[in-house]
Amino acid sequence: MCLAPPESELGRSLQPRRGSFGVMDYYLMDAASLLPVLALGLQPGDTVLDLCAAPGGKTLALLQTGCCRNLAANDLSTSRTGRLQNVLHSYVPEDIRNKSRVRVTSWDGRKWGELEGDTYDRVLVDVPCTTDRHSLHEEENNIFQRSRKKERQKLPMLQVQLLAAGLLATKPGGYVMYSTCSLSHLQNEYVVQGAIELLANQYNIEVRVEDLTPFRKLFMDTFFFFPSCQVGELVIPNLMANFGPMYFCKMCRLT
Ligand SMILES: C[S@@+](CC[C@H](N)C(=O)[O-])C[C@H]1O[C@@H](n2cnc3c(N)ncnc32)[C@H](O)[C@@H]1O
Repeated sequence: MCLAPPESELGRSLQPRRGSFGVMDYYLMDAASLLPVLALGLQPGDTVLDLCAAPGGKTLALLQTGCCRNLAANDLSTSRTGRLQNVLHSYVPEDIRNKSRVRVTSWDGRKWGELEGDTYDRVLVDVPCTTDRHSLHEEENNIFQRSRKKERQKLPMLQVQLLAAGLLATKPGGYVMYSTCSLSHLQNEYVVQGAIELLANQYNIEVRVEDLTPFRKLFMDTFFFFPSCQVGELVIPNLMANFGPMYFCKMCRLT
């Protein structure tokens, strides 16, 4: 279930509490973050990979679908996988964690395709990006700091490698969702196109971008979608619907 607090409560500190199931009663996140998970369209019994999972908001949403037969939740950073473990223990009842066979790892996601190729029905690739809303408001950990210029410039290449790994980890006929919380074409559409070309040229694997128009129409009253996004969908914050930014693009691995 997804609830938005009434406007009068926005700005107050909203502290989740332990509820009647012994787990915390809600996880606070940008509502647009749910869209990539919903659009991934999990089916009952799916094996699922969340390649860049920490701190775990979207992992929780994947588990909430009730469809995961196996869920691999990975993040390169061991400190962040520690947070992910805490989130899973605080928010997901033990029987659900066991039923969904949740496995948490700290591997470099770029190598996943070599480790577990052709394995998953659904893969979420929620990559590190310039986190544009955070970068606008927070000094701490801001990727636009001069000292982080090189890291910033390398982001699109890292994103292509992660998406390519996600596609390689997917079974033929399975689906991948690529997402960022950035407005940048370089981190969004160009990455999708780059990864698709890489798979075609280096692995002879064909990938199709899915048309999410019917999905977008379902959510047009709640979110503001950028009208001229050529590949994938982009939710942009506006005064009437202050969610996002959130870019997401669904792909089907054909071969
Ligand atoms: C946008 S965050 C993920 C947010 C998460 N999906 C959620 O909903 O809470 C991107 C994550 O990618 C991780 N990351 C960066 N490089 C990675 C790599 N090479 N392999 C796997 N994860 C990586 C970062 O540590 C970071 O936690």
